[in-house]
Amino acid sequence: MEKSIEIDPDYYDIGRDDYVDTDFASETTSLASSVYRGVFENGRRYQTVREGASWCPSDEQQFESLEAGHLLCILLDAKTTNPLFQAPVKNPKQILDIGTGRGNWAIDVADMFPNVTVRGVDLFPPPGDWLPPNCIMEVDDVLQEWTWRQSFDLIHMRQLIGAFTPEEWDGLFSQCYKNLNPGGWIEQIEGDPRIKCSDSSMSPDCSMVQFTEAVFRAGKEWNHPLDTLDTMRTAMEKAGFVDIHEKEYRWPVGPWARDPTLKEAGRLHHHQWTTGMEGWGMYLLTKFGVPTPWSKEEVQVLLAKVRKDLQDPRVHMWQYARRVWGRKPTVEEGRVKSEDVIDSGN
Ligand SMILES: C[S@@+](CC[C@H](N)C(=O)[O-])C[C@H]1O[C@@H](n2cnc3c(N)ncnc32)[C@H](O)[C@@H]1O
Repeated sequence: MEKSIEIDPDYYDIGRDDYVDTDFASETTSLASSVYRGVFENGRRYQTVREGASWCPSDEQQFESLEAGHLLCILLDAKTTNPLFQAPVKNPKQILDIGTGRGNWAIDVADMFPNVTVRGVDLFPPPGDWLPPNCIMEVDDVLQEWTWRQSFDLIHMRQLIGAFTPEEWDGLFSQCYKNLNPGGWIEQIEGDPRIKCSDSSMSPDCSMVQFTEAVFRAGKEWNHPLDTLDTMRTAMEKAGFVDIHEKEYRWPVGPWARDPTLKEAGRLHHHQWTTGMEGWGMYLLTKFGVPTPWSKEEVQVLLAKVRKDLQDPRVHMWQYARRVWGRKPTVEEGRVKSEDVIDSGN
């Protein structure tokens, strides 16, 4: 008997219509439709703008996790003047959100500032077909030369850990610097993938720790390190930003904290975890798992154990997150600096 061709079970993923790729049957398939449709691997959908550009799935499951992350960030700054960003931007006209994902942040900022144009850019188009009239979503790779004609007053980035190599980060911060108006601001908030516990409730070799350490190692193996929260400040300084501030957060995993805000934060972060973790691990571990790439099944077995850890209300796990914001020097400050250089050269 002839050897049969193995069928990809993910191709049919019953009940998830958007996963079935019928592009091949169309005579009018365009580049645009492939960008919308994405590419499917290990049961998840990924962007097609640049092969291997991002570990992050672009599908409903991951968008749900991003939404929980958005609400978590807003909640923890709910008592500040502006829970969406901390940079003291004056009279902004143009704002850019890099790696906008589902677009939650860009949409909320556009709602908050109806006279400002807010652009969100990502490798995959965000879901949903309604946007505030002053919000524009664009599909593009931010590592390419930027083609926007206007400069920005604020550039925002959130949860871009593992998106770039250290050299790409440097290039991106330089592009941001170049494309901000003098006196304009950059702001970034990132979570730490590493799990913490301040008492003895978490076993140091539990599945959560094993999973986060394996994903962290895979990021290193790919040269897309996941410690962005520790490196972004220095990268901003290197690009020329001044007046840099930072704020640290603790994200509890689960509603175990006594403080009502942290309790709610824990619920949201728990939801971010349960909906997000497969996407966080699948691409990195199946491609860059150490010592050798993992199979999809190996990832799923560990994730099943992680899910059990997440169900245990007695384990007090939490993660660090950090927000950093800095300013491009004003024209006046730039002038003073170049005069200094001339003086010291004399
Ligand atoms: C973890 S998601 C965060 C989404 C959003 N910032 C949020 O906080 O909800 C990271 C996003 O960065 C996008 N991304 C990664 N590399 C990119 C690139 N080179 N150009 C544009 N977007 C990129 C991914 O497609 C993904 O949507």
